Amino acid sequence: MILNFLRRKIINLACDVLNIKGWSGKKHWKLFQEVFSRKKKFKELAILGVYHGKDLSYICSSLKKNNVKDFKIYAVDLFENVAMADWGPENQHLNWNDIKIEPPSLKKAKSIIKLLGFSKNVIFIKGDFKKLADYKPKLDFFYIDLSHDYKTTCDAIELCVKFSDDETIMMGDDYGDGGFLGQRWEVKKAVSDKFKDFKIHYNLFWESNKKNLKIISTKKDKLKNFTY
Ligand SMILES: C[S@@+](CC[C@H](N)C(=O)[O-])C[C@H]1O[C@@H](n2cnc3c(N)ncnc32)[C@H](O)[C@@H]1O
Repeated sequence: MILNFLRRKIINLACDVLNIKGWSGKKHWKLFQEVFSRKKKFKELAILGVYHGKDLSYICSSLKKNNVKDFKIYAVDLFENVAMADWGPENQHLNWNDIKIEPPSLKKAKSIIKLLGFSKNVIFIKGDFKKLADYKPKLDFFYIDLSHDYKTTCDAIELCVKFSDDETIMMGDDYGDGGFLGQRWEVKKAVSDKFKDFKIHYNLFWESNKKNLKIISTKKDKLKNFTY
């Protein structure tokens, strides 16, 4: 217990030294500790939305604590000083400096992961999250923390689901009524449109799996089923 508390304190201290920012707190830490203590083989994982790498650091540390060896995490982010889709259409000319928040940084994410000794476990992918498809991963776990608009969230879920099986743990951040720059986040709507059933952890994170996916019929399917 005390050791675990210290483990998080040390990561937070290392983040302070390297000027790593982010939104990860105690709830994130507890979530990852619990998920990776589940009796499951975690080999390939993905985090979509890295920013400076704080969640990624928490995930790596939780995996190590639970004796998961040889795991590989695809860590995807634009790592660009550009507006996020959930800042709204009228704010797309802004960048992170304009809103007084440090921009996402691949350099920073790499530095904290190196300092914590996880470089060989992390594959950084710089670009749109759809680039993950190029790696054809077999995901045991994925965590979505991108722009929180409806389209990005739905597209990210759909993409990750393609690389998942029945046992894959599917998760994401910011399931709630929050918002930013006058825009409401739409994670809640996206998750309930994609899954029949899901769990909410700490009033903040959603979790589901392939068995709970909604089958949404396309126009083509509807025409196929049409009888004269
Ligand atoms: C809320 S931050 C992620 C926070 C991060 N999980 C942490 O540990 O601090 C959202 C991130 O999503 C990234 N992002 C937004 N849209 C993206 C997209 N279409 N493809 C890849 N990354 C994207 C942004 O660059 C930003 O770093």
